Amino acid sequence: MKPLIIANCKMNFSLKEADEYCINLTDKKFKNQLIISFPVPYMAYLADKFKTLAFCAQNISIFDSFGAYTGEYSSLMVKSCGINYSIIGHSERRNLFDESEEMVLQKVINCLKLSITPIICIGESLKIRQNGTYKEFINKQLYPIIDVMSSTRNKEKIDVIIAYEPIWSIGTGLTPSVSELVETFALISSLLKQSAVAFNIRLVYGGSIDLDNIKQIMALENIDGVLVGKASLNCDTVIKMLELVEEHV
Ligand code: PGA
Repeated sequence: MKPLIIANCKMNFSLKEADEYCINLTDKKFKNQLIISFPVPYMAYLADKFKTLAFCAQNISIFDSFGAYTGEYSSLMVKSCGINYSIIGHSERRNLFDESEEMVLQKVINCLKLSITPIICIGESLKIRQNGTYKEFINKQLYPIIDVMSSTRNKEKIDVIIAYEPIWSIGTGLTPSVSELVETFALISSLLKQSAVAFNIRLVYGGSIDLDNIKQIMALENIDGVLVGKASLNCDTVIKMLELVEEHV
């Protein structure tokens, strides 16, 4: 499988800017390698206009269809816009919007029901990394997710991406050392291998990825791709990243 780049543009860009971003990508041959996450109000328009690009929601509701939930949008709505991916449980949602583990799991269930690939974010805080309990923490975050995936009907068909994003690395310019990454991804991979769905799961790293570190991080064992925040705001940077990754294949 080719390495994956997920561009998480967060709450940035006007519709016109997002449109220009996509126009820049249309003559490139990076199919199946790039997933772009713009704000949801732009998505139906962009997904309809740029059929060769893959788009991703940054969140979905815990409610899965229609109803009196002002301000929410459901997995059903996202799917009906032609969007086949959603980031779930990003640390910004967990921390700024009080998203609990239960809510994250419900959102994963909602995605899987409609064949939306959830990009499920996990990762420890600096405090947990420093006090040495990060392995237990990752175990605790991952087990219920594995449970949900394992009890899904048609589990042989599900497609899930797990994004390991240590909170201390997001937007800070800090990345884990190579040995920290190797250790953590080996841990995640071995926990998943014990489950019935391991073969359908891709693992990506996220947190301060840039043009200087992407190649080294992508080359590490058990890492199938990267989730890029700040650096993805420049479309030319994303194109350069895709070219670097292509050389690495
Ligand atoms: P960053 O963000 O690349 O700016 O650290 C990553 C993310 O939030 O997914």
